[in-house]
Amino acid sequence: MKLKFAVAAAVAALSLSSLAHAAGDPKAEALMKQSGCFACHAVDKKVVGPSYKDVAKRYKSDKAAAGKLADKIIKGGAGNWNAVTGGVPMTPHPQLSKADATAMAKWVLAQ
Ligand code: HEC
Repeated sequence: MKLKFAVAAAVAALSLSSLAHAAGDPKAEALMKQSGCFACHAVDKKVVGPSYKDVAKRYKSDKAAAGKLADKIIKGGAGNWNAVTGGVPMTPHPQLSKADATAMAKWVLAQ
């Protein structure tokens, strides 16, 4: 039984480490992949939404950024990146908990 657990833990560690190329919490990154965030965003180039590096740069000195961005991830909306997106809104993600959205916002801010 102990061995089985060790193997499972090693497999879990391996699958997490394959995501570790980007900065930030790999659990948040995995959740973002599941949630479709990368359909509209990439780390270092604009897709539909701004690149995560640009988001991180804009909010670098804003201590309240994680909370504000978590609300925006849940509620969606436009207006902050019109010059980049041409006014396209981000879709809302009401299925996400505030804790998960905050973890995602922190991941974005770590890019
Ligand atoms: C349908 C495309 C789309 C999807 C899916 C999407 N986004 Fe966005 N996102 C956008 C657009 C467009 C903007 C720019 C909104 C604006 O101008 O205020 C944006 C902006 C953002 C911002 C910056 C918000 C601000 O006000 O500065 C963050 C952070 C973000 N997205 C994270 C996420 C995360 C995390 C997910 C997955 C849960 C996600 N996005 C899914 C299109 C998308």
